[in-house]
Amino acid sequence: MAIYQIGPFAMDESFIYTFFPLLAAVLLLIYIKSKEANEAVKEQKNSPTYSLWDPDRKRLETTTPVFLQEPVTPLDNEIDVLSTSPHPFRPYKPIYHMTMGLEKCAPNDLFLIDSSYPSRIALRKQIVNEFPQMTLGASPECGGAINELYSYVLSQHLPMRFPRLFTISTADRQFRNHVSGDSNPMIAPESSIEALKVLATTVEEDILILQKVDGKETYSLQGYVACFPNGFDSSKKMGMELREIHEPVPMFQEKLATSMDRFFGKLEIGRWVRRFNWTISTHEKLFLPTGNHHYEGEEVPDKLESVDLEKTYLRVERQVLLRLPVSRAIVFFVKTYMTPLARVKEEGQGEALATAIDGLPEKLGVYKKRIVWGEAVKEALRA
Ligand code: HEM
Repeated sequence: MAIYQIGPFAMDESFIYTFFPLLAAVLLLIYIKSKEANEAVKEQKNSPTYSLWDPDRKRLETTTPVFLQEPVTPLDNEIDVLSTSPHPFRPYKPIYHMTMGLEKCAPNDLFLIDSSYPSRIALRKQIVNEFPQMTLGASPECGGAINELYSYVLSQHLPMRFPRLFTISTADRQFRNHVSGDSNPMIAPESSIEALKVLATTVEEDILILQKVDGKETYSLQGYVACFPNGFDSSKKMGMELREIHEPVPMFQEKLATSMDRFFGKLEIGRWVRRFNWTISTHEKLFLPTGNHHYEGEEVPDKLESVDLEKTYLRVERQVLLRLPVSRAIVFFVKTYMTPLARVKEEGQGEALATAIDGLPEKLGVYKKRIVWGEAVKEALRA
C-alpha cells in the first residue's frame, strides 16, 4: 500500500480516500446550514414588527400579504402625537407650475396623527351620519378593494404604526381604537358602506378608490369616503374617469391628464407617493360639497374689502397614492390641514404666501376664487 507524506504526517491510501470526501461533506453541510440561517434572518427583518406592549397581541394571519418594500414600524413617543400640533406643511411656491409634484411617501407616513385627531374623528362621525350619500359610496365592483383596504388598515397598518393607540385582539378578532373608545371587527363587515363608515371614523384621511372596470383601460372612481371634500360632491363624481373628474380644473387637460393616466397605469405595488394642493379658505368649514371654487358660468361673488386673519385659513391637502396588491385598485388618501393665516404670518411666511397668491396662473386664480379674497388676504399678510 502506498504511503503519502503530507507535511509532518504520513498517511496511507485508504485514509486519504475516506478522510477527504468526509471533510468535503462536512464543509458542504456547514455551508448549507449557514445559508439557511442567513435566509431566516433576512425573512425576520422583512416581516412586520409587532409591539409587545399589548399582552394580547399575537402575530395574525391576515388575507393581505406583506407587500411593502419597507416595513411599517412603531412610532417613537407615540402617545405624544396627540399633543403635537399638525405638521406645518407649506407647499406653496413663488410661481405655481401645474405638475404632478409627486414625492416618495414612506409607508410609516401613510397616516399622520396629531392633536386634531380626537376632534376631527368626532366631527367625521357627525358628518357621516348627517350626509351618508355624499360622504360614503361604493360600486358593486369595489367590494373586494374595500375589504382589502379595510383589513390592511385595521389589522396591520394602524396597530403596527401606533401600537398604543390601536390594538387588535385575536380572542374576539376586534380592532380597538383607544382614543375614540370604538371597537370594530378586524375583518371588513359584509356591507361595503359599513366598512367605509368604519374607515371614515377611524382615520382623518378621506379615501377615494379608483379601479379599471367594464374592460376599460382607464381608472374611474368606484368608492369614496369624503368627509372633508374641498368644493365637490363625490357622489356626483362616482363612476367618472380621472380626466372627467378633473374637467372643471383649468389647465388640467393640457398639462396633467396624459401624465396622470400614464402614472396610474404604471404605479407599482409598494411604491407609495404623496403630493400637495393648497388654497385659501375664508371660513373654517371642512365639509364642502360646493363652494371654494369658481366654475364656468357661475356668478362671481363680491370682492372682500378685508379679512380677519384669525378666521381665514390656508387649506392644504396632503395626498397619498398607493396601489393595493390584490385588487390592484389605486387608493387616494387626503388629509386636510387648516391653518389660520395669523399663524402663517407669525411664522414669518406672510410675504411668501402673498407672493404665491400672485404667482397663481390667471385661470387657476379664478378657479380658486382669488378674485374674492386675493387683494384683502395679500394686504393683511403684508401689513
Ligand atoms: C397624481 C394624481 C393627481 C393630480 C396630479 C391631481 C391634481 C389636481 C389638481 C391640480 C387639482 C386642482 C386643485 C386646486 O388646486 O384647487 C385637482 C382637483 C381635484 N382632484 Fe385631483 N389630482 C390627482 C388625483 C386625483 C384623484 C385620484 C382624484 C380622485 C377622485 C382626484 C380628484 C380631484 C377632484 C374631485 C378635484 C376637484 C375638481 C372640482 O373642482 O370639481 N384627483 N386635482
